[in-house]
Amino acid sequence: MEVVICAGYEEVSAAAAQVVAEVVRRKPDAVLGLATGSTPLGLYKELIRMHAEEGLDFSGVTTFNLDEYVGLDGDHDQSYRHFMNENLFQHINVPLERTHVPSGTAEDYAAHCRQYEEQIRSCGGIDVQVLGIGSDGHIAFNEPGSSLASRTRVKTLAEPTINDNARFFERKEDVPVYAVTMGVGTILEARKLILLANGVGKALAVAECVEGPVSSMCTASALQLHADATVFLDEAASGALRMRAYYQWIQAKKPGAPTN
Ligand code: PGA
Repeated sequence: MEVVICAGYEEVSAAAAQVVAEVVRRKPDAVLGLATGSTPLGLYKELIRMHAEEGLDFSGVTTFNLDEYVGLDGDHDQSYRHFMNENLFQHINVPLERTHVPSGTAEDYAAHCRQYEEQIRSCGGIDVQVLGIGSDGHIAFNEPGSSLASRTRVKTLAEPTINDNARFFERKEDVPVYAVTMGVGTILEARKLILLANGVGKALAVAECVEGPVSSMCTASALQLHADATVFLDEAASGALRMRAYYQWIQAKKPGAPTN
């Protein structure tokens, strides 16, 4: 796993945007895996800027989001479909019909989850998957205890996640208790993973993800099983890493490293 420690949130966002942009430039019909939450907002702002100022073209791109709250339809202002429309899709030229977010109002969730997996497969798989990390170490809504082989399914949210996400709702009781989420196994099939984290509140989860044992108790630790995973951190989020100085040394020495 590559660990990139950046000065601040803006640098994290810009570095992650470079990775996504590079994939889109190299492969105009790329399949992007996208995430919601506060963390990727800066990345999306930067992609919007690149589209406006540098002509970064999303017209051939397909997207799949990680998750959606059960019970919220796409028009709900806290649904992840609404979040993506507002914070990215409306501001770039991706065809809306090629943007996929799991449904929070499916009649048959098991069938919907199977179909979501099938859609990812039939689009050729995800080229780059953007991830945040929960304070409990989750990726997507794969809460502690989620199988590292799990596929898209309904999960019950853990209390720390409900508490973290309550800031977006009027009352804590309004936070949905269930979500449809890609599984850890689904995520690990993406060709490239980028995980972003900022702030001291993520430092312990990041340390478990990068340096802890691979364990379903911290599903982000599954990134250690992926051959092309990069973690972009601000200083605060990197604060609990034991090997922090070594990761910085690697980055400093990168320009001189043999490339083949
Ligand atoms: P956040 O959420 O970006 O709002 O901190 C991250 C997550 O729960 O995956």
